[in-house]
Amino acid sequence: MASYLPERSPLLGSRAPPRDSDVGQSEEEWKAHRVRRIVVGGVLTFAFILAVVISLLFVNQEGWPWEDEDPLTRARAMLNKAPVIDGHIDLPILTRFRYANNVSAFDLHGRMPGHVDIPRLREGKVGGFFWSVFVECKNDGRYFTQPSYRVRDTLEQIDVAHLMIDKYSDTFALTLTTDDIKSAMREHKIASMLGVEGAHQLGNSLGVLRQFYSLGARYMTLTHGCHNAFADSGGILTAPAPLHNGLSTLGRALIYEMNRLGMLVDLSHVSDDVMRQALALSQAPVIWSHSSARAVHNVSRNVPDDILVLLNDSASDSAHWRGKGNKTDGVVMVNFAPMFVADEGKATLETVADHIEHIGKVAGRDHVGLGSDFDGIGDVPEGLEDVSKYPQLVAELIKRGWTRQEVAGLSGGNLLRVFKGAEKVSEHMKRQGATPAMDLYSRRPDLPAEMPDWAGVSRLDL
Ligand SMILES: *[C@@H]1O[C@H](CO)[C@@H](O)[C@H](O)[C@H]1NC(C)=O
Ligand SMILES: *[C@@H]1O[C@H](CO)[C@@H](O)[C@H](O)[C@H]1NC(C)=O
Ligand SMILES: *[C@@H]1O[C@H](CO)[C@@H](O)[C@H](O)[C@H]1NC(C)=O
Ligand SMILES: *[C@@H]1O[C@H](CO)[C@@H](O)[C@H](O)[C@H]1NC(C)=O
Repeated sequence: MASYLPERSPLLGSRAPPRDSDVGQSEEEWKAHRVRRIVVGGVLTFAFILAVVISLLFVNQEGWPWEDEDPLTRARAMLNKAPVIDGHIDLPILTRFRYANNVSAFDLHGRMPGHVDIPRLREGKVGGFFWSVFVECKNDGRYFTQPSYRVRDTLEQIDVAHLMIDKYSDTFALTLTTDDIKSAMREHKIASMLGVEGAHQLGNSLGVLRQFYSLGARYMTLTHGCHNAFADSGGILTAPAPLHNGLSTLGRALIYEMNRLGMLVDLSHVSDDVMRQALALSQAPVIWSHSSARAVHNVSRNVPDDILVLLNDSASDSAHWRGKGNKTDGVVMVNFAPMFVADEGKATLETVADHIEHIGKVAGRDHVGLGSDFDGIGDVPEGLEDVSKYPQLVAELIKRGWTRQEVAGLSGGNLLRVFKGAEKVSEHMKRQGATPAMDLYSRRPDLPAEMPDWAGVSRLDL
């Protein structure tokens, strides 16, 4: 689709001023008035005919009159119609690390220290992004049973995201559905979705997943850089030895529950086996919220070709979300982190474009998107320094022959299609009577529990 926003009504010109009364007009004034009307009418008719001719000349071809303009001007025009929806931005963790969660300590209308603030989001034609709510994974103990503050810290991350969206409600709108995203963008707001960056943030509990959903989380990455009770991580540069050989039993229940809720399954960070198993198991389309192509730069964090091909030809239509050949639809949103893009010191806007082109070639251009990882990465590619630079990236793709439709898919249309597919699966499962997953982590000793001896408790503790 060329754009996912409805065309704005063309300005029809201001209303005609009230007519002067003819009383008091001289014959000459009246004649001059008629001549003016005829001339204006003639000019308008000519302009109309010219517009029709120009439309007929250009409308059925790929080209439009403005295609003579330079690629950056064209990129900006395209992104006005189909703004960027970035799959992964880390503003909440910057808020935690740098400001101890104090959202009064900085001004998003001014220049922020990282890669993201409101003026640069506007310059970059951003219409929406997933606010990553992230906490680290480590020191879990052998079976992930070491108590931790992760659920608290995730709630704090969700809290700061909500506080910022609320504080700058002239700019941001919390959006929970694809319809919300589109209406926010129609009002020129930046649609704001939450994404949880790892099932290690769940405290091993599907009940916690449901509560994160109810607080607005619309995707969850199955792992971060560590294995967890649900799935194996793919590591960062090289893959660690697997623990579950993919998904655990609890991980399979997790995918069912995410499908039922309508929460996107995010396969960034997971092992190749988890990617394959999740693609086969998930009833809903999946995403990679911030991952690049392994064939372009060989690190385990990137997606290999043998998985990218599984997405080819899978775009869902309105009736069959699994698409032709029962393939699971998905979108790989390209990560800009230099260490995933190219050898040290070599990451540039052009090499990021190489990843986009490669995924477009192997998976299809309707399966690629943008997931910058801004504010979550230390250094940045040359030419892609912050959120103001998406138009420059699109200009590079225009130079490489990307059409308006393909650009609109990359910038956000592909993500919206996939998200809509997940919403449909959720509605379908609920209509079919799918019940909430009640699976418990097998290494959890506290449930089910014996009823306490209330009489004894009150005697001892009150
Ligand atoms: C939060 O930041 C504001 C503005 O800098 C400051 O006035 C306030 O004291 C801070 N709050 C805390 C608890 O540090
Ligand atoms: C990519 O790296 C992995 C290990 O890090 C290695 O086994 C593999 O052969 C490499 N692939 C290519 C095409 O170089
Ligand atoms: C898709 O799956 C359904 C149900 O398993 C099967 O009946 C159908 O033949 C499959 N279609 C294709 C094209 O493989
Ligand atoms: C997808 O698969 C079809 C049929 O196998 C093939 O013709 C097409 O070239 C593939 N597309 C891409 C982008 O690889």
